[in-house]
Amino acid sequence: MRVLGIETSCDETGIAVYDSQLGLQAHEVYSQIELHKVYGGVVPELASRDHIRKISPLVKQTLASANLTLQDLNGIAYTQGPGLIGALLVGATFGRTLAWSLKIPAIGVHHMEGHLLAPMLDEPKPQFPFLALLVSGGHTQIIHVEKVGQYTILGESLDDAAGEAFDKTAKILGLSYPGGPALAKLAELGRPDQYQFPRPMTRKPGLDFSFSGLKTFALNTFQNSDKSDQSKADIAFAFQEAVIDTIVIKCVRALKQTGLKRLVIAGGVSANVQLREQLPLKIKHLQTEVYYPKPELCTDNGAMIAYAGWLRLVAGQRASTEIFATPRWDMQTLEAL
Ligand code: KG4
Ligand code: ZN
Repeated sequence: MRVLGIETSCDETGIAVYDSQLGLQAHEVYSQIELHKVYGGVVPELASRDHIRKISPLVKQTLASANLTLQDLNGIAYTQGPGLIGALLVGATFGRTLAWSLKIPAIGVHHMEGHLLAPMLDEPKPQFPFLALLVSGGHTQIIHVEKVGQYTILGESLDDAAGEAFDKTAKILGLSYPGGPALAKLAELGRPDQYQFPRPMTRKPGLDFSFSGLKTFALNTFQNSDKSDQSKADIAFAFQEAVIDTIVIKCVRALKQTGLKRLVIAGGVSANVQLREQLPLKIKHLQTEVYYPKPELCTDNGAMIAYAGWLRLVAGQRASTEIFATPRWDMQTLEAL
């Protein structure tokens, strides 16, 4: 079965073809970074309009690079939510209509389920059950994954998501949008032990996160510094270290609490090199296998939507002919396979 995946939940148009026998055939991502950069963040109306401009050419380009035509497709998966309503509706309208015109089934996919299953596009695939840490621009969640669609959220951010905290702190340090990767790069020039940031909510029991205080701490630290390039790098280093440490502490706690021996990390922040290096080292004593998507599949893409959509289509699930999006959508309400 060959499934076209369409991702338009925020500021990336992602298109991919997943073949259940041959694996990922092609995936293309068009990023709207340049469009939103001048505003310092995503402008929803501009995002929707740009998805409209890019979606059709990108589908053509993706099919061409896979040496396929529309007639080779057996199903279409699109991101139904959560995300920006206008942006989501572009992908849902395009995907649902294209499937109808080709007389093939369609399925609306939960964006975070796509992230969570993305490591399965590579070998070795994590076996169920596992613990998942989802760290993106909109979500920070620790999830007990029993099987596809059976998710229990054990903890989540009470305010800013990890990616959001990266982006806001980057802005404070004068870096341009999207700040996460830029801050990580600046942190490479930072020196350890110059600043000591707190590890929020780690003294209290529980698995919830709170990252907004770190951003405020970064602001105060920056304003009291000499604002030199070296100080900025040192602050970036200390901030990143605090986020990673906090994530590690919560993951260790969740692994001990659940007894699970596999940990999946996904979402945009899982592209962070330091997180990818440090987490496996710091949980070594728990004999836990750690799985990440490859870096290009950590941030938003169509491949993860094609894959999650294929799993649901092959299980017989179908989107109705009604076109709609679900901008706020609790993963725990999904149907288990
Ligand atoms: O999953 P994603 O592409 O979009 C959402 O679903 O939100 O995640 C985007 C987030 C942004 O906040 C971005 O700054 C962050 O992931 N991010 C990173 C890195 N790459 C992307 N944060 C830290 N280090 C990185 N290397
Ligand atoms: Zn995402």
